[in-house]
Amino acid sequence: SVELNPAIQPLKWLLGSWESEEPGEGSFPSMKPFSYTEKLYFSHVGQPVINFMFNAFHADTNKPMHRECGFIRMQPETNRVAFIIAQNSGLVEIEEGELTGTQLNLQSQKLERISFAKEPHVQEICRVFQLLPDGNLEQTVSMATDKQPLSQHLHITYRRLS
Ligand code: HEM
Repeated sequence: SVELNPAIQPLKWLLGSWESEEPGEGSFPSMKPFSYTEKLYFSHVGQPVINFMFNAFHADTNKPMHRECGFIRMQPETNRVAFIIAQNSGLVEIEEGELTGTQLNLQSQKLERISFAKEPHVQEICRVFQLLPDGNLEQTVSMATDKQPLSQHLHITYRRLS
């Protein structure tokens, strides 16, 4: 296997595959709460970059739903982290934030979408990844749209598959 690039060593705890243990909780003021499952993949090829894919599924039918993929980079000699993300809904985003121990706090810096993206349009995204004391991974996502202020949309915990 390829050696880990030292530039991403502080994010080593993310690497591998993760699967939701309990279904995730979806919410937003404008919608009925929902459940979903999700698999996350974080890998590297020796570059100072982590490659990722997040695939969400309907909790009952297993039908594929939301998908994201992209890259993670760290600013050298700092705890600054950048996520470069494409979503299947037609949204692309840059999120940046800080790594503190094994907690990552991210905020959207740039959001762009395809011309025929579904409404309402997202205006802001805040995301937290955290490695829990039991070794599980937690993700919480809040968003603001052009109709709703910043509110929680997703909360989920994953167990490591590999
Ligand atoms: C609805 C954005 C991730 C499932 C929505 C809405 C937006 C949105 C803007 C419409 C809200 C409204 O009508 O007021 C996002 C963003 C995500 C994300 C930016 C990632 C950062 C996910 C994930 C799932 C999911 C992982 C898991 C299956 C849903 C469902 C709805 C919804 C079921 C309601 C039905 C629909 O509008 O399609 N999302 N979402 N979303 N989202 Fe997400």
